[in-house]
Amino acid sequence: MKGKDFLTLAEFTPSDLSLVLRLSGRLKEKRLKGLGGSSLKGKSVALVFEKPSTRTRVSFQVAVTELGGSPVSLSANELQLGRGETVEDTARVLSRYVHAVMARVNRHTDLERLAKASSVPVINGLSDSHHPVQILADLLTMQERKGKLKGLKVGWVGDGDNVCNSWAYGAALAGIKFTAATPIGYEPSREVFEHASRMARATGGRVEAVADPKEAVRGADCVVTDTFVSMGVEQEKERRAKAFLPRYQVGKELMAMAKKDAVFLHCLPAHREEEVTPEVIDGPQSAVFDEAENRLHTEKALLCFLMLGSRKASAMARGLN
Ligand code: CP
Ligand code: NVA
Repeated sequence: MKGKDFLTLAEFTPSDLSLVLRLSGRLKEKRLKGLGGSSLKGKSVALVFEKPSTRTRVSFQVAVTELGGSPVSLSANELQLGRGETVEDTARVLSRYVHAVMARVNRHTDLERLAKASSVPVINGLSDSHHPVQILADLLTMQERKGKLKGLKVGWVGDGDNVCNSWAYGAALAGIKFTAATPIGYEPSREVFEHASRMARATGGRVEAVADPKEAVRGADCVVTDTFVSMGVEQEKERRAKAFLPRYQVGKELMAMAKKDAVFLHCLPAHREEEVTPEVIDGPQSAVFDEAENRLHTEKALLCFLMLGSRKASAMARGLN
């Protein structure tokens, strides 16, 4: 693990990822048995939102609570931040009260400023360029469905957005072959893809960007997409619809080019008849609600890993807590 913060996933080593996923599985099992936890007893976590959220807000709130800690959920415009207090002063003050900060922000650079000025771990709950907590849930879902991650082939179809960038790092760490097909003008970050490609050399993974959706999904174990109108670009909806439809919509024809038992993932919220057809997202190959549930388990594991350290997280994963 590089540093104290989880902003892009690239802070993780492959073994950090594998530990967090193992612990996620263990915490999921415990919850199924109705067992609570007290690992974060006496600790508070600030959850700051500059944009709307259903899954991230509720899953983090429940995660902290079920671990015995106290979540403090705030929207940015309720904070003095919304009236011009600096990100740095906000970070310094929050660090005196809470033991970690999760923030969903418009600009990734604000998150970097927040992390730099905080003395406690900062977690990215989505920025304009990364959504790493989502990918932990996606990877746990694939691990559950396929029994492994290494060597899997994942095809992304749609916008080269924050979720796509984070998938590149997740694939690189897990040894997955990840191909993203995006329209011209909507490619993922070249910097992230080059960085992820270099990281992938250590795990046997591969990360590449193409234009043809068929190339991305052919023989894939998983087909994944996201909205083509992310939060903050709503005014581009018409222009984007022209660029994405019909070629970049995941329908049954594209799914049929993937493996027979391929899984469909979507971080949600979804827009049926836009990036995906109802028969795919509501069909038998879709794992989107397991994926959403897994946000909770992976966030618990991430919080333990960042707030208690890898040694404690590892003991917890082995059932020694
Ligand atoms: N997938 C996801 O992050 O959803 P929310 O925007 O509802 O948090
Ligand atoms: N790319 C989407 C993800 C939502 C969870 C957005 O940024 O709005």
